[in-house]
Amino acid sequence: MENKKRFYITTPIYYPSDKLHIGHTYCTVATDAMARYKRLTGYDVLFLTGTDEHGQKIEDKAKEAGVTPKEFVDRIVTGEKGVLDLWKLMNISNDRFIRTTDDYHVAAIQKIFKKMYENGDIYKGKYVGKYCKPCESFWTESQLVDGKCPDCGREVQDAEEEAYFFRLSKYADRIQHLLEDTDFLEPRSRVNEMVNNFIKPGLEDLCVSRTSFTWGVPVDFDPGHVVYVWVDALFNYTTALGFMNDKYDDYDKFWPADVHFVGKEIVRFHSIIWPAMLMSMGMPLPKKVFGHGWLLLDGGKMSKSKGNVVDPYLLAQRFGVDALRFFLLRTFPFGSDGNFSNEALINTINVDLANDLGNLLSRTVSMVGKYFGGTLPQQQAEDPEKDRELVELVSTLRSRYEDQMEHFAFQNALAEIFKVIGRANKYIDENTPWVLARDMEANGPRLAGVMYNLLEVLRISAVLLTPFIPQSSAEILRQIGACEACQTWESAGQWGSLRADVTVQRGENLFPRIDLDKELAALEEIAAQAKKAALPALEVEPQLTEKVDFDTFCKSDFRAVKVKDCQNVKKSEKLLRFTLDDGTGTDRQILSGIAKWYKPEELIGKTLMAIVNLPPRKMMGLESNGMLISATHTEHGEEKLNLLMLDDKIPAGAKMC
Ligand code: MSP
Repeated sequence: MENKKRFYITTPIYYPSDKLHIGHTYCTVATDAMARYKRLTGYDVLFLTGTDEHGQKIEDKAKEAGVTPKEFVDRIVTGEKGVLDLWKLMNISNDRFIRTTDDYHVAAIQKIFKKMYENGDIYKGKYVGKYCKPCESFWTESQLVDGKCPDCGREVQDAEEEAYFFRLSKYADRIQHLLEDTDFLEPRSRVNEMVNNFIKPGLEDLCVSRTSFTWGVPVDFDPGHVVYVWVDALFNYTTALGFMNDKYDDYDKFWPADVHFVGKEIVRFHSIIWPAMLMSMGMPLPKKVFGHGWLLLDGGKMSKSKGNVVDPYLLAQRFGVDALRFFLLRTFPFGSDGNFSNEALINTINVDLANDLGNLLSRTVSMVGKYFGGTLPQQQAEDPEKDRELVELVSTLRSRYEDQMEHFAFQNALAEIFKVIGRANKYIDENTPWVLARDMEANGPRLAGVMYNLLEVLRISAVLLTPFIPQSSAEILRQIGACEACQTWESAGQWGSLRADVTVQRGENLFPRIDLDKELAALEEIAAQAKKAALPALEVEPQLTEKVDFDTFCKSDFRAVKVKDCQNVKKSEKLLRFTLDDGTGTDRQILSGIAKWYKPEELIGKTLMAIVNLPPRKMMGLESNGMLISATHTEHGEEKLNLLMLDDKIPAGAKMC
């Protein structure tokens, strides 16, 4: 055990400022697949994730919510449907979870900051520049794009305060060499981005403390200053191993990290600032930073207001956790951006999981049941001509898969597996088991050979799919009767590990087909409801500030009226025609655009309020003499109207004043 090869992998620690969406889930699911893959191949893996809980944005949001910052983050991290719940639901196998508000981390950050100060890499100065609050990023004037934050495009604020600085400029050459001449940062395209946009224009020293808010790690030797949130956050990768603290004792074992997976917008922090600070501390650098792309919605950033459902809880509940995990890694190349849509999600489930994998499993298991009572006979016949291509493809699958996985090319690794699954489905059609089964005496051994080959395809595929769809893979392996020894990485590279007289177990259909149109309509409805629910529950029109003089007001003649008759106006969707008793002895006709809210019959006999001295108006060829008074407001964005109903004991014609 002691000599096992080690692998340390991390995800960015999430800002608990809002609920997580499917984009956040993407990175964590990818990291999980990588961690599970490494464990499968025999590594002693440490997979770290966590939450990045300090900073002005959190302080502001907590204030808005009327709670302390700690209460605020606790709710999002440990509360119902919080970060921890989500990772549990998504079957994330992290070994450790760090919160930057944990005491051991806070104390370690203070020591780290002090050490960089003492070695002269942190000095006190004055910060004058721009600050992007949502990104918690400082920028110099020259780094802004059209005067806005180069990362998110939002407005930046002027900022000036006494602050500590980190001598980033001192490390510019070493960082440039690290990026250009080693494989430290991948994909390669990100290297050019970093060098051209940040290093070549000249690396400036970085402001690493703030005094304008308090929600952060205090600089212990200078009260009033809190450590810049990115310094606090980046060192999580080492404090979570026990660096400068006694909580853990894995620093020597696992540092340097094998890879940090990070989203593209935080590559700058991980590939420039992070190695520079580690250099300053005299610590080894992580072996690799991989900057993955973003999941986009309609080509832009994810936001709740868009039509597609991006709530991972809801998607997992409707489609299953494995289907969702699979979709994320099968559909988008990890290094590039990809467009998320409900349609793409459902299509991937239907094509790959239901049609190809699900079908292969259910056809094979049910044929073994039907033709052999569930247990294959020992006597099996090969047909080298017919079997060669399939057997060769499956036997070499592990090595092609491994090549892709070692390069974090999840999409390609999965494509390799599905090539084999597709080939196996074709193999069924080529060998027509149902024809062989017509003469079991003559063809029994050959039919058993065909079945065995299919079971082997399923076994090897399921083992290699384990990092992506752990629960489903286990179920496939159970259904095909794979013993423990045939579920290992070694056995995935060996054709023929399954025992000849294997017994299958029929099970549930793993991936039922989804009716695309029906499901899209249901998701659209859910998104519309969610959008509505996000609008204010109750809105009323603001009161008028312009005054009306009393005499003018008194000229309005409001009366109680009784509804004698009420009808829809032909060809009008809006209008109702009222015949009213206004106490004068002559019927009064009023037209009112309230058909959306009332059925005519429910108003007959009611006592309402009307203004009766408005000049007559024609609508749809009918004359309206006055106006019924109603109350209006908006509920979750929807206009509501209620007629003013009076006590029926008030006689028709009674004056309102
Ligand atoms: N707290 C920092 C990370 C500090 S690491 C020392 C942070 N947090 S975050 O919550 O804003 O983002 C967490 C991760 O989610 C980032 O890697 C980010 O790129 C990723 N994603 C957020 N939205 C995303 C998509 N729409 N698509 C893919 N990944 C996205 O940054």
